[in-house]
Amino acid sequence: MSFTAAIITVSDKVAGGKREDESGPALERLLLEAGAKSVVRAVVPDEREQIAAALRGHCTQRRVDLVITTGGTGMAPRDVTPEATRDVIDRDAPGFAEAVRAESLRVTARAMLSRAVSGICASTLIINFPGSPMACEESFAIVRPALGHALELLGGAGVDCARKQPY
Ligand code: MTE
Repeated sequence: MSFTAAIITVSDKVAGGKREDESGPALERLLLEAGAKSVVRAVVPDEREQIAAALRGHCTQRRVDLVITTGGTGMAPRDVTPEATRDVIDRDAPGFAEAVRAESLRVTARAMLSRAVSGICASTLIINFPGSPMACEESFAIVRPALGHALELLGGAGVDCARKQPY
């Protein structure tokens, strides 16, 4: 299916020009390969208000179908992406974050450190990913098989959920 997407890189260092954003471009490539017809990117520092404002703008004004955030999900004092995401979501959709954590544990025990959440703001699905490019690639591979169906349902297309074969 075709969908629109936004990537929000949450990082003090990238926002301050001290580090190059590698995860944003990596996710953009993956989303385009997965059928996104447009992908916009934004960078914000690890500030709860700024993250929430960027999320709201993409969900309620730009009205993209999917927002993926990268970074700020860990346990460092300035990691507040999950809190900012909770500030804007209207409906929980925990399955994406749960799946990423559970499947990532096969690769690294450090997956336990991610406090990522996922949910719906207006009709946009928001999923938090960890900050590293490798973690983004691993996380995207995990959510990708369920993404199309989720976005169809969110779009109100009234699609049939009955499974006729294993997905
Ligand atoms: N998940 C996957 N798939 N791959 C990873 O390398 N890194 C973990 C975890 N989840 C990782 C992962 C680590 S080390 C941390 S600290 C947390 O994500 C939070 O990362 P963040 O603070 O960059 O968001």
